[in-house]
Amino acid sequence: MILLGVNIDHGATLRQARYRDTGQAAGGAVEPDPVALAEKAERAGADGITAHLREDRRHIQDRDVWRLRESLSTRLNLEIACTQAMVEFALKLRPRSVCVVPENRNEVTTEGGLDVVGGRDRVKACIKAMAAEGIESSLFIDPDEAQIELSAKLGAPAVELHTGAYANACGTPRRAQEFQRLRLGAVHAHNLGLKVNAGHGINYVNIAEVRTLPHLHELNIGHSILSRALFTGIEEAVREMRARMNP
Ligand code: PXP
Repeated sequence: MILLGVNIDHGATLRQARYRDTGQAAGGAVEPDPVALAEKAERAGADGITAHLREDRRHIQDRDVWRLRESLSTRLNLEIACTQAMVEFALKLRPRSVCVVPENRNEVTTEGGLDVVGGRDRVKACIKAMAAEGIESSLFIDPDEAQIELSAKLGAPAVELHTGAYANACGTPRRAQEFQRLRLGAVHAHNLGLKVNAGHGINYVNIAEVRTLPHLHELNIGHSILSRALFTGIEEAVREMRARMNP
């Protein structure tokens, strides 16, 4: 049984498109409320909710994650950059887990994987600080041998394999090669004792292949579920994805 973490960032993106400046003052009129989306996603069978508190606060706001922390009945997975400010925030919030992601201010959404090799000491300190507070950390990395090996060596309990390159290659001759990289990465991570999660660019079509990756614990999916929700409502969008993940 593969677990589903629903990423609600794009709900907040839609809200911020209109209420970036007036959000606080407009109170209850502000929509859509990402926390309400999260609660509905849970009721439809999401196993957890993922939210990325970016340093520039372009979508999810501090208040959103505090409200999620209070109201979720499943678990909150907070995505953070590996910076002192974000680590301190996570230690105050105490979500069930954090996923450490790279952040580039110019990107629309998270693009490449975290460079664990290049940022070794910072990543290690982050994993250690989280573990001391009982917060499970996972590292969002490309399915690259060196990144996987160092993730295990630094004591990360989990990795989230970046499926973006694979998703972009769907419909091109590179698909099979990108899938094979993910497959080998999943096996390698599992053999090193890491929990294997995956995410980015997973949709209602490529899930048929993604779900066949070995040792998958959880998938984190946002854009496709939120997009489908515009037509079907979030509950139906979540139920449909879960059914395709675990037919
Ligand atoms: N996992 C991580 C670490 C992410 O940063 C994101 C969002 O970029 C996702 C999963 C979800 O990606 P998508 O919105 O493409 O489903």
